[in-house]
Amino acid sequence: MRIPDLADRKKRGQKITMLTAYDATMARLLDRAGIDALLVGDSLGMVILGYDTTLPVTLDAMVHHTRAVSNGTRRALVIADMPFLSYQTGIAEAVRNGGRLMQEGGAAAVKLEGGRAVADVVSRLVEIGIPVMGHVGLTPQSVHRFGGFRRVGKSSHEAAHVMAEARTLQAAGAFAVVLESIPDDLAKAITEELAIPTIGIGAGPHCDGQVLVSYDAFGLYQEFTPPFVKRYAELGDTIGKAAGEYISDVRNGRFPEAGRPRTGPEREPGR
Ligand code: KIV
Repeated sequence: MRIPDLADRKKRGQKITMLTAYDATMARLLDRAGIDALLVGDSLGMVILGYDTTLPVTLDAMVHHTRAVSNGTRRALVIADMPFLSYQTGIAEAVRNGGRLMQEGGAAAVKLEGGRAVADVVSRLVEIGIPVMGHVGLTPQSVHRFGGFRRVGKSSHEAAHVMAEARTLQAAGAFAVVLESIPDDLAKAITEELAIPTIGIGAGPHCDGQVLVSYDAFGLYQEFTPPFVKRYAELGDTIGKAAGEYISDVRNGRFPEAGRPRTGPEREPGR
């Protein structure tokens, strides 16, 4: 998958699929399943690192996890989130940090939050060859300004603001924009207005594509599930059950089994 393929999907009316990934094994599974794009989201702060928000996530952590996802991906487009304070402090710093996500992390593009406030940064990144995906609506790095992870764009004033932010990102050169936690009709209007693809999360069915946090979609993150999430599996329960069986087997002498061969065939290089 390449960035122009996403624009092509929008033109043809074919939906774009995106999930988050944070490590090579999950990336490999999702890539083999045929996902279009893998987002190394700064949601890793919550689902991998155990924080309450995305704010403590550092650029080094993003580079580290992006490298892992790139290592496990053959086909999907890998997009890395620029974490809090890695692009808001100036264009030169944003260029250096976005560049690291591509050069060291192997990402094909970066994602950052906001509209007018980051338009200059987006323009410069795009100009020097760092493709940018925008993100408007609920922008989790501003969770304290919003007063929590809440729906955005319900009043006509807020809706007009979200629309303007999305237009600004397109004008600045973003190749796509994530619409998070906004009303369905607003997401529909933005999707019809923009030439670039919209990727929704909690924004209804009218977007050009959808993204979910994989740990939510597969039931791995059990602390909190946003109401718009569909659980496609209950892997948290499956792992809990499997771990319980292992613990019981070891405690009761059922594993390892006596007499079972302890060596297998040589591992093939590259597997
Ligand atoms: O960090 C993330 O996972 C995201 C998605 C929620 C879009 O930004």
